[in-house]
Amino acid sequence: MFSSWTSPSGGLVWHMRALHRRRHWNHFLLPVGDWLDTWHPASTGLLLIGPSAGWCIPDSFLGRFSQIHALDIDPLAGKIFRVLHRKIIAGRRVQLTWQEGDLFEQLEDLLCKYPDHAVLFCNVLGQHGLHQRVAELLTRDFESLTSLLRGRVWASFHDRLSGGRNEADPIPGQFLLSKGLDTQTLVQRVAREGQWIDHLTQGVFPENTARLMIPWGIRPGVLHWVEAGFIG
Ligand SMILES: C[S@@+](CC[C@H](N)C(=O)[O-])C[C@H]1O[C@@H](n2cnc3c(N)ncnc32)[C@H](O)[C@@H]1O
Repeated sequence: MFSSWTSPSGGLVWHMRALHRRRHWNHFLLPVGDWLDTWHPASTGLLLIGPSAGWCIPDSFLGRFSQIHALDIDPLAGKIFRVLHRKIIAGRRVQLTWQEGDLFEQLEDLLCKYPDHAVLFCNVLGQHGLHQRVAELLTRDFESLTSLLRGRVWASFHDRLSGGRNEADPIPGQFLLSKGLDTQTLVQRVAREGQWIDHLTQGVFPENTARLMIPWGIRPGVLHWVEAGFIG
């Protein structure tokens, strides 16, 4: 498994992109923040999985927790996270601990170590295909993840589809789904033209989970459809 600052799903390239492009991402950052505002786990502890430097995660959300433990494979992420979110960390509103590692190897131990923490997957599950290229193994990883999370309070926002976008067109609107939508139907609904990448996250949530579909014009000419939902 990849573990370096040049990881295909994060690392230096991601941090540089986020630094330069974040000012163009309000159409994505605001709905993510609003959606996080609707999630109210009872716990004051949070496991943040794959948060990178938290470029897309507002302080107003993080500040609701007194203890946060984060896990990311990117060795740069923790250092930049502490700078970006210094207001809440330095003010000791939030006690942050950080772990560098792979969620598919280390989550089970973390769930045991922090039995009462809520869990947030931060746009990480849709990146797994960049690390695990064998579709059957990827599906198996997601199945083990879902069974590990049984009984826990957790949430995730993750890529479902990504593809091209005509810059002259406006960013499409977000929409709510009361339950799962298979990828083929989703493609027909949102991605009429061009080639789209399936991030193979269709089965992450149990079927009856309501979810918000948020478009993200991540860079010129590229659009991601991000699925956001919570369990508990
Ligand atoms: C797109 S970035 C997340 C961006 C984040 N939501 C933010 O606000 O900046 C994906 C992150 O997931 C991490 N990641 C990818 N696969 C991982 C894995 N198997 N275990 C832990 N972290 C992983 C990457 O290092 C990267 O930091």
